[in-house]
Amino acid sequence: MSTQVLKVGVLTVSDRCSNGSAEDKSGPNLIRIIREDGSFGENPNIVYKCVADEVDDIKAVLLDWSDNVKVHLILTTGGTGFAARDVTPEATSQVIDREAPGLVIAMITKSLNVTPMAMLSRPVCGFRKQTLIVNFPGSMKGSQECFEFIKPALPHALDLIQ
Ligand code: MTE
Repeated sequence: MSTQVLKVGVLTVSDRCSNGSAEDKSGPNLIRIIREDGSFGENPNIVYKCVADEVDDIKAVLLDWSDNVKVHLILTTGGTGFAARDVTPEATSQVIDREAPGLVIAMITKSLNVTPMAMLSRPVCGFRKQTLIVNFPGSMKGSQECFEFIKPALPHALDLIQ
């Protein structure tokens, strides 16, 4: 892994951002911090999309990036809450082969030190073949915090699945 260029997918899941009625701040912010962080190599290859809160739309991107683009790491942001249209965890569960509950525990535990609202996020993390998929909350603040919480384990996690 360390000699390969890391491929990362950032998927924003939001009805409002996908239809243009709101600006996606979380996805571009994740891309910025991945680029600025040294942990993922000099120049990681990052793909980005924004889709509506629809299971089929989310799954289509996760499957394409995992199976065709062969992205090493997919970070989703949004759609993890309790609202009826929050279906990112359900879509993720339908595409992963194995769960990675430790990442979920780490995110929720550490997030609860920041806000009690962390208990309202239902992230799913796991692998589809050699792609690690991680769900973050939708806010720029929440997605950045969760990224920082799991970041220390990500390079080793990605090494293990290659
Ligand atoms: N986790 C962290 N670390 N920081 C946050 O600000 N926001 C919470 C939670 N997780 C938050 C967080 C809030 S307010 C909600 S409603 C849920 O994530 C779900 O967010 P989502 O539906 O946008 O995915």
